[in-house]
Amino acid sequence: MGKDVIVACDFSSAEATFAFLNKFTGKKPFVKIGMELYYAEGPAIVREIKARGHKIFLDLKLHDIPNTVKKAMAVLSNLDVDITNLHAAGATAMMQGALEGLTRPDGSRPLLIAVTQLTSTDQQSMERDILIKEPIDQVVMHYAKTAKNAGLDGIVCSPLEAGKVHDTCGKEFLTITPGVRFADGDVGDQKRVMTPAQAKAIGSDYIVVGRPITAAADPVAAYERCVAEFCD
Ligand code: C5P
Repeated sequence: MGKDVIVACDFSSAEATFAFLNKFTGKKPFVKIGMELYYAEGPAIVREIKARGHKIFLDLKLHDIPNTVKKAMAVLSNLDVDITNLHAAGATAMMQGALEGLTRPDGSRPLLIAVTQLTSTDQQSMERDILIKEPIDQVVMHYAKTAKNAGLDGIVCSPLEAGKVHDTCGKEFLTITPGVRFADGDVGDQKRVMTPAQAKAIGSDYIVVGRPITAAADPVAAYERCVAEFCD
């Protein structure tokens, strides 16, 4: 795997999701299923999208005690997704428990990715609410190293950080980067954005793209433009 465009299917129902996916008659996009869709439709939506031939990033961001996360990951592993994730803030024992739970009897498992500091957390709220006093970029890099040492496959980060993460954790450590916009597109509520071509140049392994594709007048053309800029 590697170098692919993941489409964030941030829809609230199976109906809306399939109305969108049915537009794709050629290449099946790699799909991200987040909390909204998963909580609305349950595991059935994952099985159904998988059965249609899509790769899936199940973005549920687990964070609990190691035993609970291990057991939850064992359940998610049965859904046969390609990538799933957790919060690095759950610490090493939780990440190792997650890897154990995800690993199937034949030794295979989905890729496991860590969320570091959410981009909605800034320096001020980090210091005030969770008493972390270090600069936020150092905190992100520390989480990345901790995740790597625990055996995880990569992190979610801003495309602006992908180069530094590779320098620190190695080229093989995957960077999955949201916050992607076309040069002539609407930025919306994303603050720090990059084009697919810039994300490619800086070394992102996967870009996660939502509204620039899902809200486009022609979603298939927007997806193909992303693939052309990022993968080709
Ligand atoms: O519509 P848009 O391209 O902004 O969607 C980006 C996707 O990536 C959404 O599903 C959003 O929840 C997710 N995401 C993000 N920033 C993060 C982590 C995840 O935008 N730091």
